[in-house]
Amino acid sequence: MIYMDNAATSWPKPEVVYRAMDTYMREGAGNPGRSAHEFSITSGRVIYETRDALARLFGVGDPLRIVFTKNTTESLNLVVKGLLDPGDHVVTSAMEHNSVMRPLRALENRGVELTIVRCSHEGFLDPRDVEQSIRSNTKLIVMNHASNVIGTLLPVEEVGHIAQDHGVLFCVDAAQTAGTYPIDIGTMNVDMLAFTGHKSLLGPQGTGGLYVREGVESMLDPLLEGGTGSHSEYEYQPDFLPDKYESGTLNGAGLAGLGAGVEFVLSDGVAKIRAQEERLTSLLIEGLSGIPGTMVYGSGDARKQTAVVSFNIVDMTPSEVAMELEEAHHVMCRAGLQCAPIAHKSIDTFPRGTVRLSPGYFNTDDEIKWTVRAISRIAKKGS
Ligand code: ALA
Repeated sequence: MIYMDNAATSWPKPEVVYRAMDTYMREGAGNPGRSAHEFSITSGRVIYETRDALARLFGVGDPLRIVFTKNTTESLNLVVKGLLDPGDHVVTSAMEHNSVMRPLRALENRGVELTIVRCSHEGFLDPRDVEQSIRSNTKLIVMNHASNVIGTLLPVEEVGHIAQDHGVLFCVDAAQTAGTYPIDIGTMNVDMLAFTGHKSLLGPQGTGGLYVREGVESMLDPLLEGGTGSHSEYEYQPDFLPDKYESGTLNGAGLAGLGAGVEFVLSDGVAKIRAQEERLTSLLIEGLSGIPGTMVYGSGDARKQTAVVSFNIVDMTPSEVAMELEEAHHVMCRAGLQCAPIAHKSIDTFPRGTVRLSPGYFNTDDEIKWTVRAISRIAKKGS
């Protein structure tokens, strides 16, 4: 089988990830920060090491500014629901996933004002359009770093500077870039960075987090309140990080695996991972673009996107193509709207959707060539 659905979740994981989770479960899975016994201290140390690895990856000085959640969706919900009140204005892009759009639409119903900045058919966003949409009551700009539908990178650095110039908070959804594209929260001028553990950070599902810049916590309410193991004498939530946003027992085994995944990324290096994925993406775009009856969406340039390539075959539905790809050619991918209807509206593929191929670091040139040949056969048969 050839796995080409890494934008949904990466597979396989490095061997060290499987081993770290197994070791955590067998050798000291205590409840971190709750007790003074050996198992509790061991799990607390493992989880701190994961925070520290993420801080090194994102250029964060203090690892305690990394808060753990179960995925990017939870982190984004924490940001928008914890910050915005009726009467506030928020700006987002027209390439967002429903992890941003659905909480924003829910808040719009409760009196939050929303501006969606248009994007081109290739998924590009003009930062000047973001600047023009800022009003006196704009509190937050939230947008993805790269589209999960076509991979196009958004100009987060430019938008970060615009947000800073106007005193507006800036949150980046790095679900598709963390681990595979360079991220430095300083140069990007990011106040909050939402990430997931199970994609390019190569960890397990059920792990993710949020970087919160110093000072933002005084404006950001938690999504959950509860036990933190700290200040247990108080019936009120602690106001310091990470405890303010980490109530309840963490996913210790998952975070042990995530830590191993991030260490793997740090050791191989984001530059090498990015170079490999860019090469595979380039091969894929080139191969698919030459197939008659096939439309390839996005920038058409691997340097301007992540390893996500969406296409359609004329007269076939995306799910028919995906089914044929798996059943006849053993290639796994994702078809449809990929939980991002507004992105499909921007690229004119709504409501049909697309077939999405997303290679990862461990895919090979031969697998890409096999996949292109398979799609060529499907297109020939279908037309
Ligand atoms: N957001 C994930 C995807 O794009 C699940 O497939």
